[in-house]
Amino acid sequence: MRLRVLGSSAGGGFPQWNCNCANCLGWRRGTIAAKARTQSSVAISSNGDDWLLINASPDILQQVRENPPLQQARQVRDSGIAAALVIDAQIDHTTGLLMLRERGTPLPLYATPEVLGDLQDGFGLIKVLSHYAGFQLRPIALDGQPLQVPFLADVEITPVPLTSQPPPYSPHRGRPRPGDTIGLMMHDRRSDQRLFYAPGLGLMEPSVEAAMRQADVVMVDGTFWTEDEMVVNGLSRKLAAEMGHLPQSGPGGMIEHLDSLPAGKRKILIHINNTNPILCEDSAERATLAAHGIEVAEDGMEIVL
Ligand code: MLT
Ligand code: MN
Ligand code: ZN
Repeated sequence: MRLRVLGSSAGGGFPQWNCNCANCLGWRRGTIAAKARTQSSVAISSNGDDWLLINASPDILQQVRENPPLQQARQVRDSGIAAALVIDAQIDHTTGLLMLRERGTPLPLYATPEVLGDLQDGFGLIKVLSHYAGFQLRPIALDGQPLQVPFLADVEITPVPLTSQPPPYSPHRGRPRPGDTIGLMMHDRRSDQRLFYAPGLGLMEPSVEAAMRQADVVMVDGTFWTEDEMVVNGLSRKLAAEMGHLPQSGPGGMIEHLDSLPAGKRKILIHINNTNPILCEDSAERATLAAHGIEVAEDGMEIVL
């Protein structure tokens, strides 16, 4: 199985269009060592031709241009994107679906019933897109059984319910339900390797710890370095926890959790917010991650299981 990181940033991307925080301004002025990043998305394939898009970001058109395997050119209208799966109903993970409206056939869309409900009623996206190519809805059950995606031979994807937050537009914001956000355990049966993907992770529950222990590659929420990052930057009144993200630093933070895992795993942070100092390649925070053996995802990164 191959996984390509299409977008490694959180909602807004890096730099964010309207942001002049130290990172965004520094990137535009060329005064910091940091790479631009598009919004949160990955894609996986087992044959290299047919891809499952995991999260559909507002930057999807740029991501398709920058990832040639997603355009196989087998016929005059074609795409390597054979189906999509969204792990939540957040804007940064679902808006790209609007850009896929020119398909000739309905797009198979995998998501939990909670997410499909928000996309249907809160966002209206499913209704809007029914006037274009539309979807074949594939509800994801949280019964511990793996999904079998027809073109992903030898790959089992098991959803892991996570405690995070449904989107601000959801009637369930502030009262999260299992199914609002999931992580994915991807198991390649040929190599017998596992990757756990969870770009939105607010709380380290026992089921999440177990998934992280089992995985060979852990690719998890790298949104914020500190709990009050948005507040101290004057960008929001919300703490990381209120937004459904576990920060990296401090007691009980992501670094501590990743440190407690058995040795020999690849540990990668993804869904990095533009305020996060780890974006600066020469920052003290980035050096701390390196000292703990933790990588920071970049757009275009490829992982082979
Ligand atoms: C989040 O995960 O909290 C977001 O990136 C929200 C958004 O897309 O606006
Ligand atoms: Mn997000
Ligand atoms: Zn910024």
